Amino acid sequence: MKRIKIEGGHILSGEIPISGAKNSAVALVPASILSDEIVRIHNIPNISDIDALNEILNYLGAKVSRKEDYMEIDASEIENKEIPESISKKLRASYYFMAALLGKYKKVEMYFPGGCSIGARPIDQTLKAFEALGAKIDENNNKFTIVAEHLKGGNIYLDMPSVGATINAMLVAVKAEGITTIENAAKEPEIVSVATFLNNMGAKITGAGTSSIIIKGVKKLNGCFTEVIPDRIEAGTYLIAGALTGKNLTIKNMIPEHIESLTNKLKEVGYPLNIGPDFITISTIEKKKPVNIKTLGYPGFATDLQQPITVLLTQCIGKSILEETLYENRFQNVNYLNKMGANIQIEHQKIKINGPTILKGEEVEATDLRAGACMVLAGLVAEGTTTISSIEHVLRGYENIIEKLEAVGAKIELEEI
Ligand code: EPU
Repeated sequence: MKRIKIEGGHILSGEIPISGAKNSAVALVPASILSDEIVRIHNIPNISDIDALNEILNYLGAKVSRKEDYMEIDASEIENKEIPESISKKLRASYYFMAALLGKYKKVEMYFPGGCSIGARPIDQTLKAFEALGAKIDENNNKFTIVAEHLKGGNIYLDMPSVGATINAMLVAVKAEGITTIENAAKEPEIVSVATFLNNMGAKITGAGTSSIIIKGVKKLNGCFTEVIPDRIEAGTYLIAGALTGKNLTIKNMIPEHIESLTNKLKEVGYPLNIGPDFITISTIEKKKPVNIKTLGYPGFATDLQQPITVLLTQCIGKSILEETLYENRFQNVNYLNKMGANIQIEHQKIKINGPTILKGEEVEATDLRAGACMVLAGLVAEGTTTISSIEHVLRGYENIIEKLEAVGAKIELEEI
C-alpha cells in the first residue's frame, strides 16, 4: 500500500505543465474500437484509469502499442465477447465500451460500470438512448445483454445533461442508419473532443458543445489521429494550490476558457490572475473574501473542483456556502478537513464553511479521486505533516502529481507502507 506524505507551508513557485484530460482520454480510448483501421491518440495521460481501459482492449484482442505519450490502437480484429465484472467495475468509463461495441457489432454483454463512490450514478439515460436507437436491453444481476437487430437513428431527449449518456449516445448513433438527435446534451469540452475524434474517423456529427447534437450515421469509420485536450480539472486543482500557497505559480499547457467558472470565483475571492492564451499565473493573497458556489454542468462550476476548492474556502474570512447539485455523496472530504481544523457543517447537499481556520497536519484518507486532491491541497497549506492513505484513487486521475508538485517547491513524497 502507498500513501502520500506532505510537509505543509512551503511556497509553490515555477511552472506546472498540464497533462491530457482524464475524462476525455477515457472516452477516446473506447471510442477508438469503432474504427476498422489504426487510430493514434496523442497526449494520453499516464494514469491508472487508462491502464484499466488498456486491459479491456487487450482482453478483446485489440493490438495496442503505448509509447511515451501516445497510444496506437488497431481494433480491426477484436472479438466481441462478454466483458467480465472484475474489469468493468474498475472505472466508470468502462461503459463507453458498452456503447462502442453496440455501435460496432449491434450486440454487447457487460456489467454495470464502477467509478468513485460519490453517489448512486445510475445509467438509465444511456440505456434510454440505446433503446431510442433500436436496442433491446436485458438486465440480470448487474449484467446487461444489449442487442439491436437494426440500429436506426432516433430522437433522444436526456432528462439531465449527462456527460456519459451524451458520449454513449454519440458512440452508437455514428453507426446507426439515418439521423439521430440528442437534445439536452451535455456541453463539456470532453464531449467536443470525442465528437471531433469521431468526425476525424469519418463520422458526421454537428452541434457538439451545444445542447443539441445531430448525428448522421455512416457505415464505416476510418483510421485517424487525435490529441487529448488539456485536463481542466487538473489545471483547476493546481490553480487552487497556487491560490493557497503560490508565488508566481504558472499553470501551463492549459485552456483558460475551460475553467472560467473557477477563475471567476477566484477573482471574487480577490485574486489578481495573469491569464494568457494557454497559461494562468497566480500568487496567494492575504485577505480572501468568502464566496458561494453551486456545482452545475459545463459551463457552470465543475463538480470535480468542488472538493478541491473547499480547502480554499476554509482560508476565506467569513462564511462561504457550497452546494453540490450533481452527486449526493461528494462531501466525504469534509470530516477529514474538520479533523485538520476546518469549521465546516454539512446540511443536506450544502456545506457551510466558516473561515479562516488554521489547518494542521493529520492522518487523512483519499475516499475518492477529488477528495484525494482536496487532501493534497489541505496538506500543502497545513502546519506540520499530513499523511494521506488510499491514494490509489488519486493516481487514477492525476499524472505525476508528486513529481509536478515537488518541482515547484512542495515537500511531498510517496511512501510504501
Ligand atoms: N445521471 C443519471 N442517470 C444517468 C446518467 C447520469 O441520473 O444515466 C445523473 C448522475 O447521477 C449525476 C448527473 O446525472 O447526478 C451527472 O452525471 P454524468 O452522467 O454527467 O456524469 P458521468 O458521465 O458519470 C463524468 C465524469 C465525472 C464528472 C461528471 C460531471 C467521466 C469518466 N466522469 O461522469 O468525473 O464528475 O461527468 O462532470 O468522464 C471525476 O473525474 O472525478 C469524475 C467523477
